[in-house]
Amino acid sequence: MKEKTKILVTGGTGYIGSHTAVELINAGYDVVIIDNLSNSNREVLDGIEAITGVRPTFVEGDCTDMDTLRRLFSEHNIKGIINFAASKAVGESIHKPLLYYRNNLVTLMNLLELMPEFGVKGFVFSSSCTVYGEPDENPVTERSQRKEATSPYGNTKRISEDIIRDTVHSGAPIGAIILRYFNPVGAHPSALIGELPNGVPQNLIPYLTQTAIGIRKELSVFGNDYPTRDGSCIRDFINVVDLAKAHVIAVQRLVEGKTAEPVEIFNLGTGDGVSVLELINTFEEATGVKVPYRITGRREGDIIQVWADPTRANTVLGWKADTPLTDTMRSAWKWQQHLREKGIM
Ligand code: UD1
Repeated sequence: MKEKTKILVTGGTGYIGSHTAVELINAGYDVVIIDNLSNSNREVLDGIEAITGVRPTFVEGDCTDMDTLRRLFSEHNIKGIINFAASKAVGESIHKPLLYYRNNLVTLMNLLELMPEFGVKGFVFSSSCTVYGEPDENPVTERSQRKEATSPYGNTKRISEDIIRDTVHSGAPIGAIILRYFNPVGAHPSALIGELPNGVPQNLIPYLTQTAIGIRKELSVFGNDYPTRDGSCIRDFINVVDLAKAHVIAVQRLVEGKTAEPVEIFNLGTGDGVSVLELINTFEEATGVKVPYRITGRREGDIIQVWADPTRANTVLGWKADTPLTDTMRSAWKWQQHLREKGIM
């Protein structure tokens, strides 16, 4: 029997990592996960196994530690890496910048440094639309100008992109695909995996579903006086399973040597801008559940509006985010109910 191609998913028990592990297994890859469980837990592996029938190999460890990574690469014949191991809370990064720079950048540099040594050819990186800042024009394409970051978190994404570019251009025998996510939301339709925020959620959807189920009294809508159609901010909300599938295509492209450039960059979004108030309405219509909310002041550092032009990913990768937002909202709600049933939240 032909040996399956082994892919390392760093941060693979996290929100996007776990959904990607599922799609990789479904596509026939052998998945090795490394995660330090700083923002996730082992039970996520049960969820992945329940969905796919396969339990991925799991290494509990920190990617900032070279020895741990060396051991892992010696034991497993890894062909491609998808790097999700990073800290991602914007607010926290402002108070703990060094934690963010260390986690996100040392992890990245360790992986890039070890790739040639162990003959790993392909690297997929989780970047963010945060690199576009407040865009001059929407939708943004991959050629839109990157703006100065407004948080250390955002800055780690920008610097990471540059580190990848410089490393690949230096002649290292590796290829990379940088994926710029817009706002990933929802959960696997089985509700066996999803987003598990630590403490009070900072992001819109977990706060919204926790309010809908009664954990929080009301959702604060941060501002309705922005220059948008209804005054609330506009984002491009992309289904997490759609997002995960793009990673499978990206890593396959790298492993099979089909990339057109040494570093390729793709926006991963739907192409539709949806306002915060429209999103609340969509959730209510999709689930029949009312969300108590109140308009409060603007949140410092928020971008007014940003949505993707995903044409490049559509045409070059042959990928499209096509899950309707109503289905995505139902999946988020089903996941919240699952957490309640399990007594987790
Ligand atoms: C931010 C980051 C993004 C990062 C993501 C995940 C920036 C510009 N964006 O996205 O890079 O990947 O977090 O951590 O740094 N909102 C409310 N009430 C709430 C929560 C949010 O009204 O309780 C509004 C926000 O004002 C915003 C929208 O909902 O307009 C989305 O917010 P959020 O889910 O936090 O994501 P972003 O800030 O877009």
